[in-house]
Amino acid sequence: MTGTPRREPTPRRYLMCEPTYFTVEYSINPWMNPDEPVSAELAVKQWTELADTYRRFGHRVDTIRPVPGLPDMVFAANSGTVVDGRVLGARFRNPQRTAEADHYRRWFLDHGYRDVVMPTAVNEAEGDFAWTGRLLLAGSGFRTDPGAHAEAQEVLGVPVVSLQLVDPRFYHLDTALFVLSDDHIAYYPEAFSPGSQRVLARLFPDAIIANAADAECLGLNGVSDGRNVVLPMEATHLAERLVHAGYEPTFVDISELRKSGGGPKCCTMELRD
Ligand code: ARG
Repeated sequence: MTGTPRREPTPRRYLMCEPTYFTVEYSINPWMNPDEPVSAELAVKQWTELADTYRRFGHRVDTIRPVPGLPDMVFAANSGTVVDGRVLGARFRNPQRTAEADHYRRWFLDHGYRDVVMPTAVNEAEGDFAWTGRLLLAGSGFRTDPGAHAEAQEVLGVPVVSLQLVDPRFYHLDTALFVLSDDHIAYYPEAFSPGSQRVLARLFPDAIIANAADAECLGLNGVSDGRNVVLPMEATHLAERLVHAGYEPTFVDISELRKSGGGPKCCTMELRD
């Protein structure tokens, strides 16, 4: 018996955007129902608790100012992929979100990033890209164009593994898979095509496998610092699996943000400087 590995957290830096102007007034994924009421006030409260959770773990949280009329700007993960201080920005699939990309581009330039490239292909950034420390896992099927995968490899200089998403509820890679620690991931196999499932099983034989209940509360939209794993509070099965593997889950309430199809990870861009 080898026992449970000891999991060490590493300090992180995150970029977040307060959901001051949060609404659901258009529908670009199956979670969004413009007829269901949403409260920006409650969204701000949940978002603030998420940011405070990161700070409690000793992580640095930077913020970008929200812009009226861009209700999805809270989902910071969609606006940039940063690896080793290099930034690949975003190009959104849906016109309702197009303008977000430039606000983030300017944030990067104003905060000392010199190497900022804007993509030519549709690219929803960390919504569809997950850095494992060795590989950049890249999703497509609903938002990010497969051509953006090759572009990411070229711009960021990291090996990219393309994965095919097949369930519209899990329209971004980060709704179906997340990185726990170097080269260790959790994912929901059914969100991927058969070939992509085989690729994941081959690359990550010791991955944590989530079930349908985990996926349906956006439990795969977690954020890990290598030990502490921030999860939607409904993801109890996944949390149990994580404890077995030596991680420490922390629950947050994201009920309001989920009405837009987002969870903790969507609200969190990692700045890997
Ligand atoms: N309403 C947003 C959209 O559909 C939610 C984005 C969630 N972000 C994420 N990283 N999955 O674009």
